[in-house]
Amino acid sequence: MKFDIKKIVRPNIETLKAYSSAKDEYTGEANVLLDANENSLGSPLTKWYNRYPDPYQKKVKEKLAFIKQIKAEQIFLGNGSDECIDILFRTFCEPGKDNIIICPPTYPMYEVGANINNIAIKSAPLLPNFQLNVAHIEQLVDAQTKIIWICSPNNPTGNSLDRIDIETILNHFNGLVVVDEAYINFSKQKSFAQSLIDYPNLVVLQTLSKAWGLAGLRLGMCFADASIIKYMNKVKAPYNINIVTQELALTALEEVGQVNDMIQHLVDMRIALAEVIASMPHVEEVYPSDTNFLLVKIPKATQLYHYLLTRGIVVRDRSSLENCSDSLRITIGTEQENTQLVDAMANWIDLTFSNG
Ligand SMILES: Cc1ncc(COP(=O)(O)O)c(C=O)c1O
Repeated sequence: MKFDIKKIVRPNIETLKAYSSAKDEYTGEANVLLDANENSLGSPLTKWYNRYPDPYQKKVKEKLAFIKQIKAEQIFLGNGSDECIDILFRTFCEPGKDNIIICPPTYPMYEVGANINNIAIKSAPLLPNFQLNVAHIEQLVDAQTKIIWICSPNNPTGNSLDRIDIETILNHFNGLVVVDEAYINFSKQKSFAQSLIDYPNLVVLQTLSKAWGLAGLRLGMCFADASIIKYMNKVKAPYNINIVTQELALTALEEVGQVNDMIQHLVDMRIALAEVIASMPHVEEVYPSDTNFLLVKIPKATQLYHYLLTRGIVVRDRSSLENCSDSLRITIGTEQENTQLVDAMANWIDLTFSNG
């Protein structure tokens, strides 16, 4: 059966007459702008903040299209990739009727998004080696399955998922396959953004929040066939990316070299930190990571988590997640922060295990 986006989109979104903003209706270069009820006198800040932003972020998309070697029409921008996740649910999943498949342990927002939108969740946990259980996923698919959510490299396990497995799912599933690549820049894996031409049902998520160091700007990217992006544009709020974010993103996107240097530095520190932590007594496992964090298994992990807090160090206790008992997720910090972490961990291990 051939993939047909018209069979996936919610019928009310297919027929929706989307809001048409003032900036949609007039896109020329007039001098007298009396069409959007903005404050024509200006603002307490730089003058142009009195104007609404470009609703379709044309300049940012053109720059991204060049960097990613795709077309601007294949890009949707969200207020963080979390907004892209939400828009995907609201565009393609019918509340109370459709279902999605997730592969835990994974990024929790897929589950939260499904729950907010009253979409049933089917779960195909990752195998003990944190790879996809493709056979289980195939078993779970039914006529109402709209999206399979795949996170690669995966949060919180840190590993990249087998590309052949993802391709198998893309080839066999007639709904959308979302590949969340929030951490792809820290990995040697090839991005699926370059495979859009091969898979009409592929949706790739990336973000400026991780490798680009711009979590505070809130800019998430969604790459997919133009027909998918068109529907998402109908659903989004008209001005979802503010002027400041668009301007600063454009400036930052000129700095690919600087970002690549940061990525290399973070990866070097990740490798060094993994080695040091793995050599500490009682540490059971430091899982291989293709990200800017490490998942560390250690007895009494929750106790260690609380101890680190007393030393002013916050990590993420992931012990309650499937297959993650006694596991902490630790973001790679600066050299100094990593040293502080290691010292505190060593201290705690001494205090906790030395008296038998
Ligand atoms: C896998 C994954 N996807 C998406 C996000 C959200 O990114 P953004 O800051 O772009 O909303 C995160 C944030 O931690 C993440 O780990």
